[in-house]
Amino acid sequence: MRARTPRIGILTGGGDCPGLNGVIRAVTKTAQNEFGATVLGIEDGFEGLVEGRAHELSHAEVSGILGRGGTILGTSNKGDPWHYPIPGPDGRIERTDQSARALERIAQWGLDALVAVGGDGTMHIASRLAQAGVRVVGVPKTIDNDVPGTDVTFGFDTAVSIVCESIDRLATTASAHHRIMVVETMGRYAGWIALMGGVAGGADAVLIPEIPFGWPAVVRKVSERVEHGKRFSIVCVAEGVRVPGSGEVIAENDPRRTDPKRLGGIGAVVADAISRLSGHETRVTVLGHLQRGGPPSAADRVLATGLGTEAARCACSGRTDVMVAVRDCGIRPIPLAEATGALRTVPLDHHLISAARAVGTCFGDESCE
Ligand code: F6P
Repeated sequence: MRARTPRIGILTGGGDCPGLNGVIRAVTKTAQNEFGATVLGIEDGFEGLVEGRAHELSHAEVSGILGRGGTILGTSNKGDPWHYPIPGPDGRIERTDQSARALERIAQWGLDALVAVGGDGTMHIASRLAQAGVRVVGVPKTIDNDVPGTDVTFGFDTAVSIVCESIDRLATTASAHHRIMVVETMGRYAGWIALMGGVAGGADAVLIPEIPFGWPAVVRKVSERVEHGKRFSIVCVAEGVRVPGSGEVIAENDPRRTDPKRLGGIGAVVADAISRLSGHETRVTVLGHLQRGGPPSAADRVLATGLGTEAARCACSGRTDVMVAVRDCGIRPIPLAEATGALRTVPLDHHLISAARAVGTCFGDESCE
């Protein structure tokens, strides 16, 4: 009698990012080609798991999607089964425990394993599912690059390229009009996108959540440039930066989200302060979801393929409670527990901070006052 072939599920959770389709393609093709497995695509992240929305992925459906942004499965940042948002009788959102429904679905669909592709929130939920007895393999994704346990996440490289190109474009118009351009990047509580994008674009000041800044240092930097004949400046600011004396700038609080807080708006605050305190004409550009949309970079396609392939091999060969991670230029499974601790923020001794300071980039702290 032939052994039963594996049946695995895959979902993409949290905010989308370029490379998700590359992972779906790699997981499905590897599972089918190497294990003869069936792959069930669960729609809209954990919401689809709780609500029971899924379909089998065919070879044809995952063919030709490597270079496509978004996710063919859909995603959601509102479906944590243990804190599932349901409108109460008064219309207010109540968070309820729907984990039993999620576990029933997995049993009903006959899944041997689940591949959960997502950021820190998704890895946390994946870890709880593993504790509840589900065979789970995580794949780290996010433009924010803040998942612990992996050296890098796919989506990040594409986002950094977009920030770099945007700064290149803003620099020419800034130079023509002798203006200060403030560029706000995403990244949540980590400054990776602003740091790497800012350095790649040659920003004059880079403000990240990890380095508290003060207005005098930033104003001095842009004014000094004017004094030296450079009549424009680029200030790259991460959305999670805290305003001196007041804190994070929050665009919205939405109780349905896994992290209710949606950051946004620091760019306008910084632009307004620079204009007021320096007298220089200032503009702000919020890059927003441009950093997440569109085709993945070549590096992100390669990473997505490597991670997806390894995840399928883990899922089809009985590994569980692991996340496939980039470590020392290779890809290997690590315990999910290592991927669910504190967010991976930029260490203050990161070589790029030192390199940026060496070429004159101001981080808004006392070292450039
Ligand atoms: O985590 C990815 C991310 O793009 C963050 O950088 C940003 O803060 C957040 O998602 C935006 O969320 P939304 O897409 O729900 O506006």
